[in-house]
Amino acid sequence: MESAYSKLWLDYKPLDIPFAGKVAVRCLKGVSRECAAVSELITSLSALLPQAELTFGADSAAVIIELDVAEYLSLEEYVITADERGAFISGGSETGLLYGVFAYVRELITEQGFTRLSKRVRPALPLRMLDHWDNADGSIERGYSGSSFFFKNNELIVSDRTVHYARLLASVGINAAAINNVNVRGAAVRLITKDYYRKLDMLSELLGRWGIKLYLCIDFSAPISVGGLTTADPLDPRVQSWWRDKAAELFSEVRNLGGFLVKADSEGQPGPYAYGRSHADGANMLARAIKPYGGRVIWRCFVYNCSQDWRDLRTDRACAGCNTFAPLDGRFDDNVSLQVKNGPMDFQIREPVHPLFGVMKNTSLTAEFQIAQEYTGQQLHVCCLIPMIKEILAFRTCNGRERDTVLDMIDGAAAVSNTGDSFCWTGSELAAANLYGFGRICSEPGLSAEDILEEWITLTFGRSEEVKEKLLYILLGSREAYENYTVPLGMGWMCKPNHHYGPDPWGYEFDRWGTYNRADRDAVGVDRGPEGTGYSELYYPPLSDMYSSPDTCPDELLLFFCRVPYTHILKSGKTLIQHIYDSHFEGYAQAEEFFRLWRSLDGSIDERTYRNGCDRFKEQLRCAAEWRDIVNAFFHRLSGIPDEQGRKLY
Ligand code: GCU
Repeated sequence: MESAYSKLWLDYKPLDIPFAGKVAVRCLKGVSRECAAVSELITSLSALLPQAELTFGADSAAVIIELDVAEYLSLEEYVITADERGAFISGGSETGLLYGVFAYVRELITEQGFTRLSKRVRPALPLRMLDHWDNADGSIERGYSGSSFFFKNNELIVSDRTVHYARLLASVGINAAAINNVNVRGAAVRLITKDYYRKLDMLSELLGRWGIKLYLCIDFSAPISVGGLTTADPLDPRVQSWWRDKAAELFSEVRNLGGFLVKADSEGQPGPYAYGRSHADGANMLARAIKPYGGRVIWRCFVYNCSQDWRDLRTDRACAGCNTFAPLDGRFDDNVSLQVKNGPMDFQIREPVHPLFGVMKNTSLTAEFQIAQEYTGQQLHVCCLIPMIKEILAFRTCNGRERDTVLDMIDGAAAVSNTGDSFCWTGSELAAANLYGFGRICSEPGLSAEDILEEWITLTFGRSEEVKEKLLYILLGSREAYENYTVPLGMGWMCKPNHHYGPDPWGYEFDRWGTYNRADRDAVGVDRGPEGTGYSELYYPPLSDMYSSPDTCPDELLLFFCRVPYTHILKSGKTLIQHIYDSHFEGYAQAEEFFRLWRSLDGSIDERTYRNGCDRFKEQLRCAAEWRDIVNAFFHRLSGIPDEQGRKLY
């Protein structure tokens, strides 16, 4: 029977070398034959070298692979020394060893044989997390890849698919997963009750075998909704004791629990504000309850006024994160990490880097990305986010620290997951690159986007140079193309309300969400400088100065920070309006070129992937034409300025 899901980049094919000798695997100090590292090595070698004779511990073998756990390494670190005769792989724990095995297998495939290798890797970020927005009824909020494989009809599912999921995550070093939606609703409110303990324990043990901690999103008002109390006030001793008891029960019943992920006082979710308490009060109360069990609270900073009046020109949603959390810097317990979205708004195709990354110098931070592509094409458009994630992590906050990049300031990164129960997990095969790349960047941020994509392409599609070159071209150009045909220059939010797909330039303009472009017949953009909303002042100099003036603000963020007339001359020498027209035509042409290249791969990649890609590229082109024509018509009608090239603008 055909499998219900693809193995993605773990679909190992026999290597080109006709190796038929004996391969011995030796488990040295601290390594049990039952651990995931050993089973992974055996599974991989059997697929890569089907003719080889695999044995444990034989003395005479053509290739000998020794595995051990070494105390001098940190827990998730590994060392590999390999040559034609085998390998010595050491990990700081069985998880470190597992990462070493995956790295070794990757090398065998990319090199097509046993070659020299010397590598020592310690994952750069301690927390490398995937956040699923799965609801207990099986639906997924902002899910574009089918239904949940964790939940169905309010039941938790643990299946062979879950095992493959864990392998996929471990293979790229992801070590934490929050399995339910941050908007905790429906039956998920009861995840922390005995109704779910048995299955949660099974799931957590399964994930634990692959080095992954299970996290749960909890309802901040659980003392009321689950416990029957009349309050969830974090400073009320009854609430504190309820959470302490709940934590004791939960951590003993669910053995590999990592902690809680919390969305509080955000978009209608309950939180400490209802009781006049701060986010530090709320987060620390939970953190203290789970501290005895090594638990961590990941507390989201996505807090803003979502009932704004569009006529109010002073209130700026972009400022909300800093206004709320900056005064609390240093007041969070050490097992709290604040999860900060990559930009101050909400996962747009281009936003400035969130100023909290520079400001929160005394608080653990986790950067949050959204590989689910809610605003970036919903996995129907190809939009590879690897270059963007790298760009954000490398951003210098200029906060006076000797090492001042976002990467230097954070302890973890989380991605809103793009997975579901579709055959290829991520709806589109190309979207799987974002899942792969996210994990690889968190572990080895020094790798270039090209390195990561080449690896992923080879593991997924084999070693054809033609396939590699074409896919690299498509993936590396895809973000720029999407930005070009949707909303250039940092404007954001011209999408259709609610589902966030397709163009609607004023869809959010007169609404309550704080997301305005303020376009009129003369000018567009929001003045976020000192004379405007003051947002640019949340950065350290020289960034604050740079962002506050249209002369120095980088063009790609111009309309985020400044309000400028359509006749403003950009650094490219073009007027703003001409840039808007041109980029939309260019973006569409780029998308056309991607589809042309994809079609030229007919016969070079598997049929199912090819067809699925064709359907998606067709939709991407249809939608890109809508974006191009509607956004251009919108600005043409408002400004009355014709296109210099005389193209049809409607
Ligand atoms: C976006 C998204 C919501 C989600 C929210 C969040 O606003 O549209 O569905 O709940 O982000 O990050 O919590």
